Amino acid sequence: MTEIVKVQGLQKNFGKFQALRDVTFDVKSGEVVGFIGPNGAGKSTTIRALLGIIKRDGGNATIFGKDVWADSLEIHKRISYVPGDVALWGSLTGGEIIDLFMKLHGGGSRQKRDDLIRRFELDPKKKAKGYSKGNRQKVGLIAALSVESDLYIFDEPTSGLDPLMEAVFQDEVEKIKKAGKSILLSSHILSEVERLADKVVIIRQGEIVEEGSLDELRHLTRSTVTIATEADVTAMANVDGVHDFNQEGEQATFSADHQHLNDILVEATKLGVKKFEATPPTLEDLFMRHYEG
Ligand SMILES: Nc1ncnc2c1ncn2[C@@H]1O[C@H](COP(=O)(O)OP(=O)(O)O)[C@@H](O)[C@H]1O
Ligand SMILES: [Mg+2]
Repeated sequence: MTEIVKVQGLQKNFGKFQALRDVTFDVKSGEVVGFIGPNGAGKSTTIRALLGIIKRDGGNATIFGKDVWADSLEIHKRISYVPGDVALWGSLTGGEIIDLFMKLHGGGSRQKRDDLIRRFELDPKKKAKGYSKGNRQKVGLIAALSVESDLYIFDEPTSGLDPLMEAVFQDEVEKIKKAGKSILLSSHILSEVERLADKVVIIRQGEIVEEGSLDELRHLTRSTVTIATEADVTAMANVDGVHDFNQEGEQATFSADHQHLNDILVEATKLGVKKFEATPPTLEDLFMRHYEG
């Protein structure tokens, strides 16, 4: 797979403040990468540097093998971008703005545009100054999804959208994913990332603290196990890899290290298993591990 986006040791300072210290990750062809981190972690700054809106202070960043600063005009022809706060011309209608965005990008599909306006339930005849935050986001999303791009960059694109519209967005992302396009999706909605992303990149205070597929990341942390046994389940509390042991009668719940799952199963079998449920950690669990304490 070729690298569509390649970021190496990216740095950005605002005065004395180091917003990006060392940001390194890539987006490969056909990959959906979830870019997550709390407010102020540096997601938008990274994306703005990738778009050539701000100039980096160190490191390297390319899109389609071209430098994001020097070759930004060329790169922009092949990407769609939706920020978290879509800004519009107040005196134009939503429909006019969508058409303008599409024209600037060089065409797009009229049918797709109309279909998206229907699916997102946007009234395209209203002037943009009358739109709510959610409607402004819809205009940005419809314009971005109506044109053909090789790379889609979404920076918390669904802020202000209600859950139904959020679901429409997710459907549309799945379509472009199926079409083999590459997507960088910054989000604070972990379920959205969990559903869509092949790979997750976690940023904290301007540095990447974790990167990998959800499966890989899940291996780094613990599953929740609920078990009931014929013999006294208390014995499980002392098995290697068992943590946070909590017993209620013949049933116990605990968190289990992945590398000790076999030991845990062997011990459980000795006690006579009546029930065994294992739940892998959610993205939220993974995320919290980096931010708590
Ligand atoms: N233009 C700017 N001037 C000064 N500080 C900025 C500017 N843009 C962002 N920052 C700071 O950089 C940090 C990262 O911001 P940002 O990239 O917007 O975070 P995120 O998108 O992850 O919420 C924050 O502390 C923010 O206040
Ligand atoms: Mg942001």
